[in-house]
Amino acid sequence: MAGAGAVLTTGISPHISYGAATTELIASVGKAQIAPENYPATEIWGYDGQVPGPAIRVKQGDRVRQKFVNKLPQASTVHWHGIRIDNRMDGVPDLTQKSVAPGDSFEYDFKAPDAGTYWFHPHNKTWEQMARGLYGALIIEEPNPPQVDDDLTLLIDDWRLTDDASIAGNFGSMMDWSHGGRLGNWITINGGGNFTHVVKRHQRLRLRLVNVSNSRIFTLNLTGMDGWIVAMDGQPLLQPEKAKNLTLAPAQRIDLIVDVTADAKTEAFLVSSERQKNYAIAAFPVGAAIRGNILAKPEPLPENPIAAIGNLKSAKPVNLTMEGGAMGRMGGAILNGAHLTMRELVGTGNAWAFNGVAGMTDTPLASIEAGQTVIMTIANETSWPHAMHLHGHHFRQVAKNNSLGPLRDTLLMQRGEITKIAFVADNPGKWLFHCHMLEHAASGMMTWLEVG
Ligand code: C2O
Ligand code: CU
Repeated sequence: MAGAGAVLTTGISPHISYGAATTELIASVGKAQIAPENYPATEIWGYDGQVPGPAIRVKQGDRVRQKFVNKLPQASTVHWHGIRIDNRMDGVPDLTQKSVAPGDSFEYDFKAPDAGTYWFHPHNKTWEQMARGLYGALIIEEPNPPQVDDDLTLLIDDWRLTDDASIAGNFGSMMDWSHGGRLGNWITINGGGNFTHVVKRHQRLRLRLVNVSNSRIFTLNLTGMDGWIVAMDGQPLLQPEKAKNLTLAPAQRIDLIVDVTADAKTEAFLVSSERQKNYAIAAFPVGAAIRGNILAKPEPLPENPIAAIGNLKSAKPVNLTMEGGAMGRMGGAILNGAHLTMRELVGTGNAWAFNGVAGMTDTPLASIEAGQTVIMTIANETSWPHAMHLHGHHFRQVAKNNSLGPLRDTLLMQRGEITKIAFVADNPGKWLFHCHMLEHAASGMMTWLEVG
């Protein structure tokens, strides 16, 4: 691509670990300036005591070796979201490993099979631990990354802060759990509320957007920048699509390649829209032009080595009906083998069910032979949207005419929506399927599949 500047890779934190050698990833209590400068620093939980944790950046196919050391007051694990990982490294307490007690450690060691934008977070009491700041980016570089002037990872979070900028402690609120989850009152990017990054007119940027909030769904637009979606949930689109009205549900990622079109001495913005209001959540002051014109449309990113979906007619059918929550019709559900009324269920901290069962079961939702194509019909019979996440695999949404959507690991489902997804179950092990609105997962919306 003639005329493109050198690839300038800007890490989101000074501590970046590269491949091979084992690095320690220490979860601990820390302090961070989450709120504006005139507020006190906030006590957070973070990897290496920071929000976000250190970005981990490796090349596709490299080994990631991280010794997780738990210096938190609670047991924890690390889940590598979106990585088609060896099941033993997936970080799910009681399913793939024992929770790491305070003072203990666990060595994560896996190969990164797919290039793209991924992230990591705990999987024990996730609704509390992530709300306190435990998350970080895992960036897996293409062998030949697209040429951009700047490569930025934006971890978008939604905090619930008190007036003195502490993290509000009402983690177990049934009001949140049975409604839209824990929604906050303060949006940050990379741990700060005033994200600003200086750019140049006609500069080309790769923006890796990651929604790390507990439950907030973002609708995003760019002003003064124009470009394309090149990947979703880490996986390249076959053809780049115009970047407009981006929906980013909890845990989802979007990779953009954009060009700065705003004039020098003005500002470009990333804008979040909610209820007819627009909020600039990131500002990009624009300097003098880096080149005479914007660059040509980017090529698609190279595909990752993911098996093609098999014949849908002979695929293994799995059905999942989602029920419960506020304003739902669910009368009750099974919990640990006993049938409870809705009122009794709520008394146990549960509000949702999959196929009439709340929370995890001893037996999987489905047992699948390794290599089989699965077609799952999912019916959202609740009054709420949900961000459904499958571990260890990427899937495609199947349209009514059987055409296949892009690869994803997290799918936003609207209230009342019925849809199908298909994937090749080629990764043996025990894999969670759950809502990534963390309060929903904690109060019933969690099940698992067994492959192999
Ligand atoms: Cu992002 Cu079950 O995880
Ligand atoms: Cu949900």
